[in-house]
Amino acid sequence: MAGDYHALFRVVGDASTDNFGSDALGQPRTSGKLRPKRSRAVGRRCECRTLGCNSFEVVRVSGQRIDKETGMPDELDPAALEIISFPHPTLRYEAKLVRRVDRRLRDVAARMFELMYENRGVGLAATQVDLPIRLFVMNPSGQQGEGFESVLINPVVTKPRGNEEAEEGCLSLPNVHGNVVRAKTIHLHAYNLEGQEIDQELSGFEARVVQHETDHLDGTLFIDRLKEGAIGEISGELDALNTDFRSRQRTEAIPDDEQLLARLVKWEAAYC
Ligand code: NI
Repeated sequence: MAGDYHALFRVVGDASTDNFGSDALGQPRTSGKLRPKRSRAVGRRCECRTLGCNSFEVVRVSGQRIDKETGMPDELDPAALEIISFPHPTLRYEAKLVRRVDRRLRDVAARMFELMYENRGVGLAATQVDLPIRLFVMNPSGQQGEGFESVLINPVVTKPRGNEEAEEGCLSLPNVHGNVVRAKTIHLHAYNLEGQEIDQELSGFEARVVQHETDHLDGTLFIDRLKEGAIGEISGELDALNTDFRSRQRTEAIPDDEQLLARLVKWEAAYC
């Protein structure tokens, strides 16, 4: 619906201005049954005494300290994101709805595109970079500067029609491939980084990518959708990934599953 932007989440600033402070304190708009969380920004008035200066320095949002430079909570660094591999527990996490978009989240999306292109993918879901939020990026061309890049927030896939079988792979399951039956056409509802609604029928490869990535946000991997018997063909590769991950956990290069999942709380506090 035109004009119904920001219905599901708040967009804080935009790519050009990023006026985090003032927007963060604005009244959240509400629409329909989805009500954005009330702002919990805490801060102090500017003491510069410039006539008309009414700026407000945000020091905390939702109990977290704000980085004054970026206007974002500390400790959540988009540049530090990396693709995680099976059987990392976040790949099985059911991601939460995004309620807020700010500069950090735009940086997250940019970092995800970077990782996707580096690894020759066509889509990458937030859970694959260890984030518990419903967001994925895609470019069916797989080439930076070609095709069409999309950042899809809170995607909902409905009206599946037809069936089509094709081979899939996944950046979180290196060297694993298998045939997956997906709907040929789907309807996608989502939001972009500007908070604008996307309401579209998709078919073919694009529809497959959207289904694969939306699955990720529900903790579902393409290997869960292989035909019966096909899992046996890739069990060697899965065992190898499993052995590698668990041995790195034992040597403490990777924290244990409980600690890994505990990290997600900070991101949820900031965006969900
Ligand atoms: Ni994948």
